[in-house]
Amino acid sequence: MLIKLMNIQRLYRSDEIETTALQNINLHIEEKEFVAIMGPSGCGKSTLLNILGTIDRPTTGSYHFGQHELTEMNEATLAKFRREHLGYIFQSFNLIDELTIKENIELALTYRNIPKNERRKRVDHAMDRVGIGHRAHHYPSQLSGGQQQRAAIARAIVGKPRLILADEPTGNLDTENGAQVMDILQSLNDEGATIIMVTHSLSHADLARRRIDMLDGQIVVSVANAI
Ligand SMILES: Nc1ncnc2c1ncn2[C@@H]1O[C@H](COP(=O)(O)OP(=O)(O)OP(=O)(O)O)[C@@H](O)[C@H]1O
Ligand SMILES: [Mg+2]
Repeated sequence: MLIKLMNIQRLYRSDEIETTALQNINLHIEEKEFVAIMGPSGCGKSTLLNILGTIDRPTTGSYHFGQHELTEMNEATLAKFRREHLGYIFQSFNLIDELTIKENIELALTYRNIPKNERRKRVDHAMDRVGIGHRAHHYPSQLSGGQQQRAAIARAIVGKPRLILADEPTGNLDTENGAQVMDILQSLNDEGATIIMVTHSLSHADLARRRIDMLDGQIVVSVANAI
């Protein structure tokens, strides 16, 4: 098993209001799974993905990733863990405007102690993998939405992560570009990456091997897809 969440709860407290973003979350994810998370706006999907991605910490509960217990890790160790094992893809691409596509992707390998030659090879390979090599020296604003998202995928995979987390990766794309992104995610999964993807698209969720439905901060259904 790759991931085990036990009794995860996430509360947001402000002066007067307490919001329960997640409660009673118990979730197991196997290595090489492709899981889609669905549910209405505000039900806690991004919060869950952020906790899985260690961008956010749960209020209570435990998170095992392989042999590691992540809720007990300090920030520096966690940052290293993130760089080595996780890749993120967001709805709004989140590329850095001032850097070229190639520089954006290379940035994901900073602090990784990878020799320059190897780093270049990996960046070129990641760009080819998503068909963005011909835009290496362009800036994000010079690319279409679909191209920007493919560049963001290259950035996510250049470190060869075990787990790819995608929060509505096709949310800002038209049908054709959305289908391209799904094709790439599926082949990455075929090659052995574990993928957890939040989506509002039923047809995209059906491409995953398992679907999890959330409501009011809880997992209400988890079903294997017939594929
Ligand atoms: N920083 C925050 N402070 C307070 N409440 C928050 C914060 N972030 C999220 N929430 C609340 O937690 C709940 C879950 O939010 P979350 O972003 O996880 O929803 P979501 O399922 O991703 O929704 P969407 O489909 O709209 O992206 C919501 O009620 C939201 O208002
Ligand atoms: Mg969200």
